[in-house]
Amino acid sequence: LGKILSINLNEILKNKDEEEKIALKTFHPKWFVKYCIKLMGKSQALKFFKTNLKFKKVYLRLNTLKGKEEELKKKIESEGVKLEKVTNFPYVYFLKKAEKPLVKLEAYADGLFYIQDKSSCLAVLAANPKPGDVVIDACAAPGGKTSFLAQLMSNEGKIYSLDYSKERVKLWIKEMNRMNVKNSMMILCDLTKHIPLKIEADIVLLDPPCTGTGTLMKNPSMKWKITFPLIKKFQNIQFKMLENCSRLVKANGTLIYSTCSITLEENELLIERFLKLNPNFKLISINSFIGFPGFRSKNLCKRLYPHTNESEGFFIAKMKKEF
Ligand SMILES: C[S@@+](CC[C@H](N)C(=O)[O-])C[C@H]1O[C@@H](n2cnc3c(N)ncnc32)[C@H](O)[C@@H]1O
Repeated sequence: LGKILSINLNEILKNKDEEEKIALKTFHPKWFVKYCIKLMGKSQALKFFKTNLKFKKVYLRLNTLKGKEEELKKKIESEGVKLEKVTNFPYVYFLKKAEKPLVKLEAYADGLFYIQDKSSCLAVLAANPKPGDVVIDACAAPGGKTSFLAQLMSNEGKIYSLDYSKERVKLWIKEMNRMNVKNSMMILCDLTKHIPLKIEADIVLLDPPCTGTGTLMKNPSMKWKITFPLIKKFQNIQFKMLENCSRLVKANGTLIYSTCSITLEENELLIERFLKLNPNFKLISINSFIGFPGFRSKNLCKRLYPHTNESEGFFIAKMKKEF
């Protein structure tokens, strides 16, 4: 330990190039520093790296399947919690103060809220489901999006939730019971293969597994596990899932694709390839006050970043099936 304490950081950094200096100072892998600088420019990338070292803001979505919004807020706050409404995000509140862990609250056990980042809520708001719709929630566990879809649909219509992980599906079932979701059923299946459903949905929301480069505040160790080959591996899986899911959208229906990653490969490049192969799908705009337009002229897509939106890094594409 004595040796570590006597190391002079400036001495170490002296002969390093700029990217390596940023990498060492902000605790990110050098390849990722290069990647982000190329993606968003040096000044934004620096802000992104610095924000990744901070604590993540916590958001709660109040569950109106369990009562009126004002009453839910009152009950939650009666347990020593202070909430602040997030403008333009229906039902979403920023956690200002809590006297004990949220999961220990009675209000949590009673399903009065779901701990959910506003970026994840935005994907569901972008889908804009209506009571009576037929919705497919692809890659659904543990159920943050299913339960918000059900809330916006007032438990009317049908949600087919798909996932392949038995463990995570157990959690999904528990969460649907806690949140009073009545209009959803789970189908265990591998979305990279045949999807055992013969329906056409008004909305298909795909939230596939990803590298999670937008969630480094929450999972700091993840950045040392992500490699470029891993990004490509996820891209392949995501593409197969998007192709399979697109077949379940009815004509004039909506396909939403979201990830908590900020890479081009998992987002714009994948959407670009999909649209080239499927000219019957068109990008449409997302009704939101926050987020940046997507890159590569995919400006109807939304990009969110921790340093600009106080959320996880996130990507959303909304597409319409024209025929
Ligand atoms: C990003 S998480 C979904 C989070 C969820 N949408 C929510 O809001 O709570 C990705 C999910 O994809 C599932 N998954 C991964 N590979 C899959 C596959 N080949 N087929 C089906 N589901 C898969 C995982 O089990 C995981 O639950």
